[in-house]
Amino acid sequence: MTQAEKRRDILMLPGPTDIPLEAYEAMSQPLINHRGQRFREFHVALIEKLKKVIGTKQDVFLLTCSGTGGVEAALSNTIRSGDKVLALVGGQFGERMAEAARYYSDNVVVAEVPWRRAPTVEDVRRGIQENGDVDVVLLVHNETSTGGLAPNVEEIARECRRADALLVLDAVTSLGGVPLKFDDAGIDLLLAGTQKCLAGPPGLSLVAVSERAWEKIESLKKRPAYFDLVAHREFMSRGETPFTPAISLFYGLNSSLDKLLEIGVENWIDRHRRGAQAFYKSLSELELEIYPLPPYRSPTLIAVQLPDHIRDADVAKKMAEKHGVHVGVGVSKLKGRIIRIGSMGQVTAERTKTTMKALCNVLSEYGMKLDYEAVDGIIDESFSR
Ligand SMILES: Cc1ncc(COP(=O)(O)O)c(C=O)c1O
Repeated sequence: MTQAEKRRDILMLPGPTDIPLEAYEAMSQPLINHRGQRFREFHVALIEKLKKVIGTKQDVFLLTCSGTGGVEAALSNTIRSGDKVLALVGGQFGERMAEAARYYSDNVVVAEVPWRRAPTVEDVRRGIQENGDVDVVLLVHNETSTGGLAPNVEEIARECRRADALLVLDAVTSLGGVPLKFDDAGIDLLLAGTQKCLAGPPGLSLVAVSERAWEKIESLKKRPAYFDLVAHREFMSRGETPFTPAISLFYGLNSSLDKLLEIGVENWIDRHRRGAQAFYKSLSELELEIYPLPPYRSPTLIAVQLPDHIRDADVAKKMAEKHGVHVGVGVSKLKGRIIRIGSMGQVTAERTKTTMKALCNVLSEYGMKLDYEAVDGIIDESFSR
């Protein structure tokens, strides 16, 4: 039995999530020459698989860095010094993106929305109207710090086009978990991580680049050294990367994507919908408070607000130590207040049940009367449709 098989704990974190056993095995393959033909063919085929998930025929690059590196790649390639950047903020990752953008331009304006909801097309429209001549709009699709999903990205993308602004979308915890097709939606630049809804290993991020984004990228006089997408495109034309790729992680991701594509992109995404439905219905049945308002509830990150006298870190610690279920806690303004459950990647009724059971057991220790048996059937039902 491998170490991975022996481990009983489950990662229901806001990422990374558990990866298939085959992916662990794939990562133990011998390294190959990243300037050789075998790597080139493997890499090109891997990018084709990613394009299926992203819903694009345009350029996609796999970068050796975590999601934050993907954010940096996106910003450093699309923001020119002095550009007016409109950053929609509905949580900590939005705040971080706005902060990162300030390194590239002194003209970053923030449109903050209440954290119990997520940015909408109206917020984007208002932000553009109030600030005029916006060059780049930054949006976190799924705000992992709150569990808020920005609805209707297609309309937001249309609004950005109308205003001649580029839309940069952080899809770190939405790609593979939320219905989204890059080309049809008309997004200009998308970035995502591999360790979330794709059930891949951490340490890689990907960017998809539209033609409109290329025009801007090519016009920049200064380019970043590591994340120069023009260099990435040039190397990719022969199946290579400008710098040493994390070959083992590429292998792991390739294996995870094989599994995803075998199930089918739409079915895979639909499992996230079912998983989230199971969580939300169960939480409502138990009268636990869900942090985001109903229209904004994410299908991949479930945020549960705790009663005032219960600290999130204590609950998470007990869930991990007593039940082997690892969940996230509140960050930034929500520190101490919420439990964040990642329902990403390999979403199953069993994992959902184990998590709900652990949550009920731990919260019962605080005198809350929560009967897991009341929701077991709800979870089965949610997964059956
Ligand atoms: C929406 C979002 N953006 C960016 C990141 C940063 O990714 P990483 O921790 O892989 O650098 C995360 C991580 O959870 C995220 O959820």
